[in-house]
Amino acid sequence: MDGATPDDYRGFMVRQRHEVRDRFPALDGPDALLDNAGGSQMPADAIEAAHRYMTQCFVQLGADYATSRQASAIMDQAHRLARMVVGDDGRGQVILGPSTSCLVAMLADCYRRAFDPRRPEVIVAESGHEANVGPWVRLEREGWKPVFWKLDPSNCLCPVETLRSLVSERTRIVAFPHVSNLLGSIEDVAEITRIAHSAGARVVVDGVAYAPHRAIDAAAWNVDWYVFSTYKVYGPHMAAMYGTREAMSQLEGPNHYFISRDEGPYKFELGGLLHEGCAAWVGTGAYLGWLAGRETDAALDRSAVIEAFEQMTALEEPLQRTLLEWLAARQDITLFGPAASSPLRVPTFSFVHKSMSSRQIAQAANAAGLGIRFGHYYAHRLCKALGLDPEDGVVRVSLVHYNSPEEVQRLISFLHEYMSGG
Ligand SMILES: Cc1ncc(COP(=O)(O)O)c(C=O)c1O
Repeated sequence: MDGATPDDYRGFMVRQRHEVRDRFPALDGPDALLDNAGGSQMPADAIEAAHRYMTQCFVQLGADYATSRQASAIMDQAHRLARMVVGDDGRGQVILGPSTSCLVAMLADCYRRAFDPRRPEVIVAESGHEANVGPWVRLEREGWKPVFWKLDPSNCLCPVETLRSLVSERTRIVAFPHVSNLLGSIEDVAEITRIAHSAGARVVVDGVAYAPHRAIDAAAWNVDWYVFSTYKVYGPHMAAMYGTREAMSQLEGPNHYFISRDEGPYKFELGGLLHEGCAAWVGTGAYLGWLAGRETDAALDRSAVIEAFEQMTALEEPLQRTLLEWLAARQDITLFGPAASSPLRVPTFSFVHKSMSSRQIAQAANAAGLGIRFGHYYAHRLCKALGLDPEDGVVRVSLVHYNSPEEVQRLISFLHEYMSGG
């Protein structure tokens, strides 16, 4: 078990790492894929499901012939799976779309049209990816008042105490990331949501950097809106946005006039969905079931989703610990985000070197077959708040459950040698 003691694992290990890796055909390539916060690989289950859909039922939805019924059923399954993955308890629904950026921009546009002059303020966390910052800041042109929830660069946190002082009866929305795509620390969504709700505001949570690592629990956290990208959660290039029925009912969607305000997610799903993507996403659900040790073809239930993510956490933890220990021991780099491994952290690591540029390090690593990157990763404002030049930004390494201790060792050996001038 990768040299870790059983106590390190929160869940019972149903699947071994080599079995998991065998499930992902792309991991056989020459590069170690260590930029998973940019996008994860798909298991064969998802790839084959897309292939099946495209060969067997690539037709229009909603007609009564058998092939169309089959296609419609897969779109329904994709929505159901997304609701199960976000942990909806029946209070909400899920909108599928092309990307998180598109879905948040669409939501901001709906709020733009529902402007309430008594509540003109939208609070945005400075630690966010621009996808959940820019669309809210741009509302300023329409009379809204964006308020920045500033980062404290000394500990890389947007302090919850600061938020308490920012919310008021004038606040309509609080937009923030569950996990920053640079820092890796998990925010207390339930507490932030309580603070926002105490002022009568709604929350829009960017869960993109959280969703690949832990089970989302939208109902338990009582969030109004929660969005993640399926292509970072072992699925296709799409995204899913949970919203409560109550929050949805107060907005007019962008869809056509004859689609009623009551038609849940459909009023927000403008145009056709990526059908083959939906099919692949259903295949991702089958992978989650497999990871949780369920029988093939067993209908996925919420407990399997939770167990699958526990497996992922258990597989990630020794990788996270090893890399953090190495990074924390180096005197020549600054690591942003928590330096110790804990359940409140995901294995996304960003650092800068005291004399080498991030570009230089990442490009040398790339030449050695290590798939990492440098830059601001669209967390442009966060990089500025940290006093960095966003163009050079940070070196980021982001691991997921299918990475291996060997890949981590390869990276460490390379960085050690390169940074020691070797
Ligand atoms: C934290 C975070 N939020 C939002 C996004 C945007 O996601 P999408 O590419 O689906 O628009 C990303 C993409 O990297 C991200 O890391």
